[in-house]
Amino acid sequence: MKVLVTGGAGFIGANLLHLWSARHPDDELATLDALTYAGHLSSIQPLLDSGRVRFLRGDIADPDAARDALRGCELVVHLAAESHVDRSISGPAPFLRTNVLGTGILLEAARLEDVTRFHHVSTDEVFGSLPLEGTPERFRPDRRYDPRSPYSASKAAADHLVRAYHHTYGLPVTISNGGNNYGPFQDPEKLVPKAITRLLAGRTVPIYGDGRNVRDWIHVRDHCEALDQISHRGRVGSTYLVGADSERSNLDLVRTILESLGLGMERIEFVADRPGHDRRYALDASATTEELGWRPSIPFTEGIHQTVAWYRAHPDWWGPLLPGADPPRVPSGRPASSS
Ligand SMILES: NC(=O)c1ccc[n+]([C@@H]2O[C@H](COP(=O)([O-])OP(=O)(O)OC[C@H]3O[C@@H](n4cnc5c(N)ncnc54)[C@H](O)[C@@H]3O)[C@@H](O)[C@H]2O)c1
Repeated sequence: MKVLVTGGAGFIGANLLHLWSARHPDDELATLDALTYAGHLSSIQPLLDSGRVRFLRGDIADPDAARDALRGCELVVHLAAESHVDRSISGPAPFLRTNVLGTGILLEAARLEDVTRFHHVSTDEVFGSLPLEGTPERFRPDRRYDPRSPYSASKAAADHLVRAYHHTYGLPVTISNGGNNYGPFQDPEKLVPKAITRLLAGRTVPIYGDGRNVRDWIHVRDHCEALDQISHRGRVGSTYLVGADSERSNLDLVRTILESLGLGMERIEFVADRPGHDRRYALDASATTEELGWRPSIPFTEGIHQTVAWYRAHPDWWGPLLPGADPPRVPSGRPASSS
């Protein structure tokens, strides 16, 4: 099968390409990625060097690049996005362009090129914020959307566009809404790798507000296993929640990282809260498990220990990404491909 993964130089996309190329050796894999600040070719270099994955540098919001990339594809797994909530607060425009317009342009290309399956990767943040105390309530697939940051609003708009293309044109789509991912190849701007890399450098870890905000954490490998199964066996038109029943406050998360590194709580520094900071996300993924048989296999503490070990072993990957480091070298031009 000919498969296009968008955003394959990003965190989840890179992990997905590694998993997919091992799991489906007969598939022809390509990735379309604009290589923004968040795209790192080093995450997939062995797959590019071996010719296992064809790299197409291009912008999903460019109709020609999108159509060229999709030509002849059977399956599209769409991950390319602006993904950092803090950046969406300080500058929402790229989020509207890539997440909303870009997804719309990709859908139109998929319709024109008759792709036989389009899987859209979204987030649990589209459902809004749950109260911290007093309710065991969790998100379910039929929950009303209530996005509250420019990031989550742009992802919600993209989800609506995906459903609209299914209802209006019969495009065979599936959608997944995942919890917070952690694992190898995540840019050090995000909380888990930021904490690990700062601690390894002898620094403190900044935590927003009172640190009690809760997220539902999932190891990226478990998420990618779910994406593989949904893309192959998910029912067209359906939405799947992907979570690992691992609700943790930011404080608990950082405590686990500190324990893994043998460090104490004095390395935490509380900083002014993020504007509009959602209090709690929690996912009920039981419907996904019941229908597809998928279930997460990496327990939270073990997954964090593995992730700490990975960052400890790979300063060559994250060192060049820290603020102030020399910018990584990337190929120029579009839609140049290297394979
Ligand atoms: N990271 C999480 O915890 C999480 C959780 C649930 C859902 N998601 C979703 O999963 C997807 C991937 O997230 P991630 O954490 O890997 O993101 P990321 O920021 O690490 O990677 C995004 C990738 O998309 C590329 N990209 C950005 N704009 C582009 C454009 N206009 N055209 C082509 N490529 C472009 C970047 O170069 C980068 O390689 C996103 O859609 C995100 O909303 C992420």
